[in-house]
Amino acid sequence: MERLFEELGAEHRLIAAVLGSMERYLDAVERGEGHDRLDLFRFIVFLSDYADDIHHEKEERVLMKGMAKHGFSLLSGPLAHVKEQHERERGLFAALHRIAVDGGDLAEAVPAARELVAFERAHMAKENELLYPAARRELGQDDPAPLLAALDRFNAARDRDGHAAWLVRLAEDLTGRYPVVQT
Ligand SMILES: [Fe+2]
Ligand SMILES: [Fe+2]
Repeated sequence: MERLFEELGAEHRLIAAVLGSMERYLDAVERGEGHDRLDLFRFIVFLSDYADDIHHEKEERVLMKGMAKHGFSLLSGPLAHVKEQHERERGLFAALHRIAVDGGDLAEAVPAARELVAFERAHMAKENELLYPAARRELGQDDPAPLLAALDRFNAARDRDGHAAWLVRLAEDLTGRYPVVQT
């Protein structure tokens, strides 16, 4: 079972690193130094395909499904709240996508992108502090085999044609080119 939590935790760390780099990119755009529109699309593709389509979906289809079998409601309480937040994030991704594609001044994308960074950070912090510890407590005593089998099926489906691995390389490229300076 620990493998599931290690995987989700590693995904949070990768997403957080990309959000930090996205902030550096947005700072550069605001200073008038960042003109690379393709990089905005790179950040959006990572967030849509990895944070949303892999990570959030894994939480919903593997972790939360497992919790629902323990009697957690998917329609109210903490799981419903997490699902609502995923839905809201999907809306923020789509809004940013539209702004980027419409092709106006790059600076017009900054407020929507900053809102997305702040929302996703707060969302992951809440999961780290509340959702994951609760899930660990509830699922910790279970036979891990069915959940890990569901996890393997999910990962295999998402990594078809190596897309998941490509997204990790994309994240490494972005975090390498927009490094977050530790103070
Ligand atoms: Fe989430
Ligand atoms: Fe998460």
